[in-house]
Amino acid sequence: MKLLVLGGSRFVGRHIVQAALQAGDEVTVFNRGQSGTGLFADVRQLIGDRRGDLSALASGQWDAVIDTCGYLPGEVRASTAALAGRVQRYAFISTISVYASFAAPNHEGSPLGQTDTPGTTTVDANTYGPLKALCEQAVTDAFGDAALIIRPGLVVGPHDPTQRFTYWPARVERASDFDPILAPGAPEDPIQCIDVRDLAAFTLHALRTGASGGAFNAASAPGQFSIGALLASCAAATSRQPRFVWADSEALAEHGIAAWTDMPVWAAPAGDTAGLALTDTARAQAAGLAIRPLLQTVLDTLQWLHSLPAAERAITKAGLSAEREAAVLAAAGIE
Ligand SMILES: NC(=O)c1ccc[n+]([C@@H]2O[C@H](COP(=O)([O-])OP(=O)(O)OC[C@H]3O[C@@H](n4cnc5c(N)ncnc54)[C@H](OP(=O)(O)O)[C@@H]3O)[C@@H](O)[C@H]2O)c1
Repeated sequence: MKLLVLGGSRFVGRHIVQAALQAGDEVTVFNRGQSGTGLFADVRQLIGDRRGDLSALASGQWDAVIDTCGYLPGEVRASTAALAGRVQRYAFISTISVYASFAAPNHEGSPLGQTDTPGTTTVDANTYGPLKALCEQAVTDAFGDAALIIRPGLVVGPHDPTQRFTYWPARVERASDFDPILAPGAPEDPIQCIDVRDLAAFTLHALRTGASGGAFNAASAPGQFSIGALLASCAAATSRQPRFVWADSEALAEHGIAAWTDMPVWAAPAGDTAGLALTDTARAQAAGLAIRPLLQTVLDTLQWLHSLPAAERAITKAGLSAEREAAVLAAAGIE
């Protein structure tokens, strides 16, 4: 395939480029040249800014474009217009955050979130999902059946800049045997995620096989993974035997600990988030989505973390600091 990747130098796009090169595809990337410079010798790089300067996209033809960094409907309308007639398919990396509610499990036909400010350029927790839904619409309006909309759940694995999944293997590795580790909810609580390499493989596979006709939720199957299985994989990967101290939502709230940010990857399987980790993925599975074992993702994430310069290895972007966790455990009388 002759492929154009918008982005292509950071996390999802970087793995898509790597997988495409391994498959023998001819790859061009378009980005600002600010991140991951010099990553791939065999890739043609077009420099520009999708929020203002698309001139580098003025010529060229591709079998497909994969848009990994579209957040505003205006910028996606601009890139679809710039490429119309010169790419056969437009794949858009969206998100399961497009859904209006997570109180019950979503499928691809579930209602999408809406915003009162579709023209905003502020992407935050309130606008991210609805704006991505409008971006999807822009792609579908321009490309019709040639649009491929992929809605990943939490994307995890090597090079994840958010540290959400990485928090857990790093936390377990830090523990001595029988040390207490604060764990959210109950071991059987479902979690849902997708290894970034499985997302890359599925995106390319869907393009090669001509999958179309609406969106695809891309994540582990509902019920496939649990928070207990993740923490057990972390213990196995690090050969540690910590003592997981499970705290339910009420106990966490008492100590001001939030799901998802302080206790990453997990949300209470009740109330507003009852369906968050149970998104229907049957459509993507039928189209060829394959999910690798959690242990593999944990092992590879750790290996990547260890490969970073010392200054970049600290986990500061997600989860609890050692001090805060120790204070909570001490307040609960746990040593
Ligand atoms: N992380 C998750 O858990 C998750 C879950 C669901 C969906 N997603 C979706 O996955 C996608 C990829 O996320 P990501 O974290 O890998 O990447 P990202 O931060 O969205 O994008 C980074 C890439 O885009 C380029 N880029 C950024 N701004 C640009 C601009 N104005 N013009 C041109 N290029 C630009 C960057 O290169 P330069 O810096 O060199 O420009 C880099 O290659 C996103 O669409 C996100 O919504 C992520």
